[in-house]
Amino acid sequence: MSTPADTPRGFTHEKVETNNFLMIVLILIVIAIGGAVEIVPLFFQRSTTQPIEGVKPYSALQLAGRDIYLREGCYGCHSQMVRPFRSETLRYGHYSVAGEFVYDHPFQWGSKRTGPDLHRVGGRYSDEWHRIHLMNPRDLVPESNMPAYPWLATRLVDAEALPAHMRALRRVGVPYTDEEIAAASKQVEGKTEMEATIAYLQSLGLALR
Ligand code: HEC
Repeated sequence: MSTPADTPRGFTHEKVETNNFLMIVLILIVIAIGGAVEIVPLFFQRSTTQPIEGVKPYSALQLAGRDIYLREGCYGCHSQMVRPFRSETLRYGHYSVAGEFVYDHPFQWGSKRTGPDLHRVGGRYSDEWHRIHLMNPRDLVPESNMPAYPWLATRLVDAEALPAHMRALRRVGVPYTDEEIAAASKQVEGKTEMEATIAYLQSLGLALR
């Protein structure tokens, strides 16, 4: 420990601690360097940039469902990230890893959990269960405070808009082929928003169980 007595004359430490402006600037520089050292390597690591085995880009129908998930604000009550804690993995399954989200733009991790985490909900229930639940959650879970989404069953997926969404995703790295994009509208034509939402939910988190 240095005391004022053995501090050399003119030592700048005192200047730093007594000059608010200098202190703020130096703190910002230190945090910027520390932040860059932690964050920048993540842009280049395989584990964060490459999909793990079994993770594929969303199909046209699943992608349409994902857009509906965003439009309806499901993320306001549901996270999509299982944390690496025993209480979470017992309830939801394997904790989430970065390689599962490389095709999610934007990702849906979230932290608000009025309802359960949905990252591993794929395959947990039947399509019919989801249909009844989305029509009116209280038919299956009497104490549920989740809103009902009955209009999903009557509205059709916006098939014409889909190729543009896929092209935009391709620009940020999702490897859709020209053929997949060309075929997208046909694949979702006549499908209801309910079918699309369920296809999306059933695709979630299948790569790890
Ligand atoms: C106001 C908050 C709220 C919103 C918004 C909401 N949910 Fe929920 N959700 C809940 C709650 C609470 C539960 C637990 C009770 C139940 O199963 O209904 C739940 C349960 C679920 C489950 C069952 C999960 C499981 O593991 O049992 C699914 C699937 C689901 N929600 C999907 C959706 C989708 C899709 C949307 C958007 C269209 C949505 N939720 C919007 C609150 C919400």
